[in-house]
Amino acid sequence: VTLHRFPGIADLGCGALTRLADHLGSLGASRPLIVTDEGVRRAGIVAKVEAALGAAGFAYAVFDRVRPNPGAADVDRAFDTYREEACDGLVGVGGGSVLDTAKLVRVLDAHGGNILDYRSAAGGWGKIGSNLPPMVALPTTAGTGSEVTLGAVLTDADRNAKIWIGSPGLFPNVALVDPELTVGSPPRLTASAGVDVLVHGVEAYAETSDAPFADLLARDAIELTVRNLPLACQAPGELRPREAMSRAALEAGLAFGWKGLGAAHALGHQVTTEAGVPHGFAVAMLLPNVMHFNLPVSRERYAELAPALGADSGEGDGAEAAIRAVERLNATLEVPARLSDVGIGEAQLAGMVARALEDGTLPTNPRPCSEDDLMAIYREAL
Ligand SMILES: [Fe+2]
Repeated sequence: VTLHRFPGIADLGCGALTRLADHLGSLGASRPLIVTDEGVRRAGIVAKVEAALGAAGFAYAVFDRVRPNPGAADVDRAFDTYREEACDGLVGVGGGSVLDTAKLVRVLDAHGGNILDYRSAAGGWGKIGSNLPPMVALPTTAGTGSEVTLGAVLTDADRNAKIWIGSPGLFPNVALVDPELTVGSPPRLTASAGVDVLVHGVEAYAETSDAPFADLLARDAIELTVRNLPLACQAPGELRPREAMSRAALEAGLAFGWKGLGAAHALGHQVTTEAGVPHGFAVAMLLPNVMHFNLPVSRERYAELAPALGADSGEGDGAEAAIRAVERLNATLEVPARLSDVGIGEAQLAGMVARALEDGTLPTNPRPCSEDDLMAIYREAL
């Protein structure tokens, strides 16, 4: 059985935000930096976090300028504020971009230097110690699972590529998951964040290492997403589907944190950097093509997922039915169907393939992918 690395505390449930100050106190932080972005601020969520800290008598500072698909400059700017304000801990309040930026500020505080030098491709795993400043991760979308993972994704603007930085020290000390913070989130944002959960579940489940705990979580996350994500999009103000999606995101985050992802992420990352497509849509639009490619290796695993994906037992072979179920969910959520729909053409594919080959999520795809294989998958999706 694969080694399961557990993160710190996962505190999940409505009203979890009221325990923020207690968690920070336990971690020994007295002046945290709230890392967030303008959208989260405008949604009124930062004010709720500030109220929770103020009521408990905490001093704090705020950095609210994380951009979508952040790069090293975002981490540097947040770290500047952290230092100027003499902070001693982090509270990440946002989606994956924000949580990942907050995680990486801790690396600069503990070790200094240029954050890009800590990328896993440059041996970053071994350079990051366990003595980082404490962090509480408060996700405001149900999607990336970054609140319970030991990695962070940055965009390297010079190479137009996603880079991955990971180490056990990067786990947030506390994942504070309050589904009430996601109620009212707009349908398109809910869909793009939430469909990422499905892709995490499918890619983690199909990965071939023996990790039964992770598989249980992946399957439950898929089932919760299929049943609840369309509801969360149709009725943004309803609490129940939001609770289910917050749990699903956390479960899928644990599952892929243990097992890894696959080619839908390796190929989808390039769709985001090339065409600005939100991460969840970018990986979901490629998932059916990747599942087709993986069939010779993953037929049994996909068939096992067919019921969780909502496939009918009368739909014939389980694996094919699983793929059709993913296509149906994509259509329901209005995920772009083809690369040409998002403005990507043949001329861009060679560069995208070259970068996908370097992507950190590719090695855990169940079927090894050559350059030609990746090109064939992109062409099929054009
Ligand atoms: Fe993802």
